[in-house]
Amino acid sequence: MDISRIGVLTSGGDAPGMNAAVRAIVRYGIEAGLEVYGIYKGYEGLINGLIKEINRRSVSDILQRGGTILKTARSEEFKTEEGVKKGIDRARIFNLDLIVVIGGNGSFRGAKAISDMGMPVICIPCTIDNDLAYTEQTIGFDTAINTVLEAITRIRDTSSAHERTTVIEVMGRECGDLALYSGLAGGAEVALVPELVADMDYVCMKVMQGVNSGKQHSIIVKAEGYPVSTDDIVKEVAKRTGRSVKPVVLSYLQRGGSPSLRDRLIATECADVAINLIKAGEYNRAVGIINGKVTDISLSKAIEAKRTFNEAMYNSIDILSK
Ligand code: F6P
Repeated sequence: MDISRIGVLTSGGDAPGMNAAVRAIVRYGIEAGLEVYGIYKGYEGLINGLIKEINRRSVSDILQRGGTILKTARSEEFKTEEGVKKGIDRARIFNLDLIVVIGGNGSFRGAKAISDMGMPVICIPCTIDNDLAYTEQTIGFDTAINTVLEAITRIRDTSSAHERTTVIEVMGRECGDLALYSGLAGGAEVALVPELVADMDYVCMKVMQGVNSGKQHSIIVKAEGYPVSTDDIVKEVAKRTGRSVKPVVLSYLQRGGSPSLRDRLIATECADVAINLIKAGEYNRAVGIINGKVTDISLSKAIEAKRTFNEAMYNSIDILSK
């Protein structure tokens, strides 16, 4: 199949580095002789034909910006066979030969459905959640984790001044990486993650261990996927320890912002590999970091890959916070 015109879309939660990936797809694509079309508002926009040609200048001045100039959406309709069919029909009206999908695991499943119906795709991993197992890191995770770390650093100051315990809730869906990495790098007492559910006895023991050894404050980083609500944790820890305990939900704050060096580089390299695959006639692949190198594997394998939890990191938080 000869590919001459490609579409590119961003889907699911936006992540810092999405724009860097779009920019690089457009510019590497044009350099390789392809026509590049932007599909606006993710799969929703594909279904509705929000598609238009973009050029080198359309992606000027976006490398350093968070969010996504292509906009994004979560499409319920695209989860149905009918929705996927509609999307592919639209793509064909615009003579798109292939779609580059930039997003997280929900977006990858949408891309698989497209490829199963005969339209070639290439996927680029971009989500702050870091929940795609086949790649060592997703675009957006590095920036988000640094935003979380900055927040922890600020919260430490005020927690210390008030001799307080603070429960900081971070995003990540069912993946605890944002909590785990920021918990370790931010010197938290505990990281509460969905992969290894610590009970309240342990949490309170850690808080009191710190207090009894002279610590001024304690930080609990809680992943949103941990199965107890932040409010309930706050109430329970306050009741059991007699300490002042406050919640901080970082929410969308951790999703915005200018992408870090690492996210810009990964996004750019992933796009380079994606365009090279297209030129080599290889489709239905997922680009990602494997053994420290940006490379690609089959989309099916990428979707089937199972995450392994980094228990060593989890244990380090316990040891270092004693
Ligand atoms: O997948 C990225 C993410 O930010 C998750 O961490 C979070 O659970 C979700 O998106 C929030 O989604 P929405 O933007 O639809 O509220």
